[in-house]
Amino acid sequence: EKGGYDYFMLKEIAEQPKAVADTLLGRIDGSGSLTLDEVRIPPGVLREIDKIVVVACGTAFHAGMIAKYAIEHFTRIPCEVELASEFRYRDPILDAQTLVIAISQSGETMDTLMALRHAREQGSRVLAICNTNGSTIPRESDAVLYTHAGPEVAVASTKAFLTQLVACYLVALYLGQVRGTKWGDEIEAVVRDLSSIAGAVEQVLGTMEPVRELARSLAAKNTVLFLGRHVGYPVALEGALKLKELAYMHAEGFAAGELKHGPIALIEEDLPVVVVVPSPRGRSVLHDKVVSNIQEIRARGARTIVIAEEGDEAVVPYADHLIRIPVTPTLLQPMVATVPLQVFACELATARGNEVDQPRNLAKSVTVE
Ligand code: F6R
Repeated sequence: EKGGYDYFMLKEIAEQPKAVADTLLGRIDGSGSLTLDEVRIPPGVLREIDKIVVVACGTAFHAGMIAKYAIEHFTRIPCEVELASEFRYRDPILDAQTLVIAISQSGETMDTLMALRHAREQGSRVLAICNTNGSTIPRESDAVLYTHAGPEVAVASTKAFLTQLVACYLVALYLGQVRGTKWGDEIEAVVRDLSSIAGAVEQVLGTMEPVRELARSLAAKNTVLFLGRHVGYPVALEGALKLKELAYMHAEGFAAGELKHGPIALIEEDLPVVVVVPSPRGRSVLHDKVVSNIQEIRARGARTIVIAEEGDEAVVPYADHLIRIPVTPTLLQPMVATVPLQVFACELATARGNEVDQPRNLAKSVTVE
């Protein structure tokens, strides 16, 4: 049932290109526009939305953080992202013009369910992004966009995360399309890029042997830090979460711009620091800032593990280990940048003798608050 792989997690990492392609299937028509008829919220209602709130937990929350960038960019609607477990306890401001997006692989996460119930009680519409047909969260939502990752057995979420990102991009682009923002041309271009993203994920998967080797060489370390900026920041958080849950190592993700506000004090000789570098094209200001961050931490002894786009030569002098990812539009970079971090955590867990599919103290679906 593991299809020749030692662990479900390895199988599920390998299934990502297909999971991504399946999640896009039938949702983009020949002319490059989106057909999300299954989102049964009428376009008229979607045009009236003046605020979007994403609620989710764990890895799904990281997908939500990335969704915020895409949603605000393509729709110009303010978007908040909140941990589902915190949401209803702060008496959030919700009304009929608020669209709440609940992201959940299992569809049974109690914290997320309670958050969406609270939102519906306040009259808000709830759209679920979910991987499990007929589970509680989609049943209690106004609409659902299913991710088609297939069953995810390993406790650590991998392919579900990538498909949650796809679903979030689709929602952002669809809302942009329905509301007719001036980003029309860009929306078409990104839809095209999205259509080829499964191939980019496949390409990354083909280059993971050096990442595995690197992971094994770090098995005796106690701490790994992760830095990222813009959409790379949630990727850093996701890399750290994977390492905590699988390798039982101290791992933390930081926004690279926050380094100088505290975390740089943690840097010491030979401390592994993974840095997700923004594309040098487009938002090149951020790229240059992150390259400076790499220089700063390396000057203080960090062992730098740099994830950077192909052709980005500026990082080369400062990377102790360089992991290349294909060129993608900025907003889609998490689709390829996350994959090496999954492989890294999985291999470190194996090297440390941990149970990869069933990490200690964790359950696949968390049905208690
Ligand atoms: C991490 C992980 C958890 C889940 C979280 C939400 O690898 O699996 O953090 O992402 O418990 O679960 P769902 O998506 O089922 O609501």
